[in-house]
Amino acid sequence: MSKIKVGIVGVGSCAKSLVEGIQYYNENPEDKIGLMYEDIGGYKVHDIEFVLGFDIDKRKVNKKLAEALRAKPNCAMDHVDQIYTNGESNVSCIADGATVYSAPELDGIAPHMHEYPDEVTFVNGAQPAESFDRTVELLKYHNVDVLVNYLPVGSEEASKYWVDVALAAEVHFVNCIPTLISTEDAVHTEQRFIDKGLSIVGSDMRSAWGASRMSEVLQGAMLDSGLMVTQHIQMNMAAGSTQGQEHIRTGRTANTDFLNMAKEYRLKNKHVSKENVLKGQNIVRDESTAGMTLYAGPSLTVLQKPGGDYIPSDNKIANFDIVAYGFAGARYEMSARLSVQDSPNSGGVVVSAIRFCKVASEMGIVGFLRGPSAWTQKTPPVQLKTQDAKFECDALARRVITPMTEPQLKENRPKAKDLPHTFQSGENDYV
Ligand SMILES: NC(=O)c1ccc[n+]([C@@H]2O[C@H](COP(=O)([O-])OP(=O)(O)OC[C@H]3O[C@@H](n4cnc5c(N)ncnc54)[C@H](O)[C@@H]3O)[C@@H](O)[C@H]2O)c1
Repeated sequence: MSKIKVGIVGVGSCAKSLVEGIQYYNENPEDKIGLMYEDIGGYKVHDIEFVLGFDIDKRKVNKKLAEALRAKPNCAMDHVDQIYTNGESNVSCIADGATVYSAPELDGIAPHMHEYPDEVTFVNGAQPAESFDRTVELLKYHNVDVLVNYLPVGSEEASKYWVDVALAAEVHFVNCIPTLISTEDAVHTEQRFIDKGLSIVGSDMRSAWGASRMSEVLQGAMLDSGLMVTQHIQMNMAAGSTQGQEHIRTGRTANTDFLNMAKEYRLKNKHVSKENVLKGQNIVRDESTAGMTLYAGPSLTVLQKPGGDYIPSDNKIANFDIVAYGFAGARYEMSARLSVQDSPNSGGVVVSAIRFCKVASEMGIVGFLRGPSAWTQKTPPVQLKTQDAKFECDALARRVITPMTEPQLKENRPKAKDLPHTFQSGENDYV
């Protein structure tokens, strides 16, 4: 089987985890823990190869991809001792010569990010960006199959630019960030991918076992047990384990994803997208959300007071508080806490999404991959019950067409507007 060639936009902490994680599984072929699928339609993890990246940070641009992944401000844990490139080691998943090219900044860097020390923020090296045409040429030259969008939250213009690039270069797209999340945007975007015979997974990845998965499972299971969930509040914050930096006692811990979202205007779409997960479980069961408090606080980044340091740390904590009513009016209250390494947690879903795109294209399925999007993303085109999303993913992994994928076969000339979409306004109920 030929390799699935992947390009990365935004060579940050999630990219680091994904690439290092794949090398880790190549080094430890007996270890399957953390992989939802060992095999997707015949493709194993070791069939993925990264061929190029795009970024704006002067510590990454014009560097070898392996070097850029370990550059600051990336702070995801190290999964392997050293990142190899093909030619140096047969456990590598990076093509020989894979380089990070200069991307246009557009709205990638929020103004407040310039206020943090370089060690924890983005530093644009003012390299002239590759032109649109040259970028498309690069993707074609490197035979990229799938482009992964890992830009910072709030990069609306930049994400649209990369959608245009993907369509012009005719590559599949995994949109890991909360952009293009309203139904109107999703339908329009899907039609463009259908017209080019391409697949897309999106938008806004959810981690393998993160706050969104936990909220979805709890909300869905409570509703399926006949309960009425009147309040489900999920609060997320940058806090917790500093992974070996415990000697710095006066600092605040956060990764760039949280620092970027320290300002409310930057995280609007993240807020909407996180709440789509909660509301989605009611919508798919035809359960009203009227009068219910279904709130997901996207990212609480407590700012560092003068006198302390920022400690780059990838740990995140989510707290859950749920109130529900059940049999004959009985009240239930539930609290939970989840502490996780943020970036590796996302690697566990993207490693599947990439392979789903490749397999779907070989089966002739075009447009949004509904099952994989519902499983791996917070705002998919259709929200599904957990078990239905898993069913669709299992079927695609076995190359089986389902009533959901059948209308999306190229030969059936799908129209995006006729395919199922869960209505998502793109607006927030609370802010
Ligand atoms: N578990 C998770 O970590 C998780 C879950 C869901 C969604 N996400 C989303 O995935 C995205 C990536 O997360 P991350 O932790 O890797 O972020 P990050 O901040 O570590 O990386 C972002 C990268 O994008 C680069 N960049 C900024 N502007 C750019 C531009 N215009 N063009 C090209 N590159 C640019 C930065 O230099 C940096 O390398 C974020 O939007 C995040 O919210 C992450």
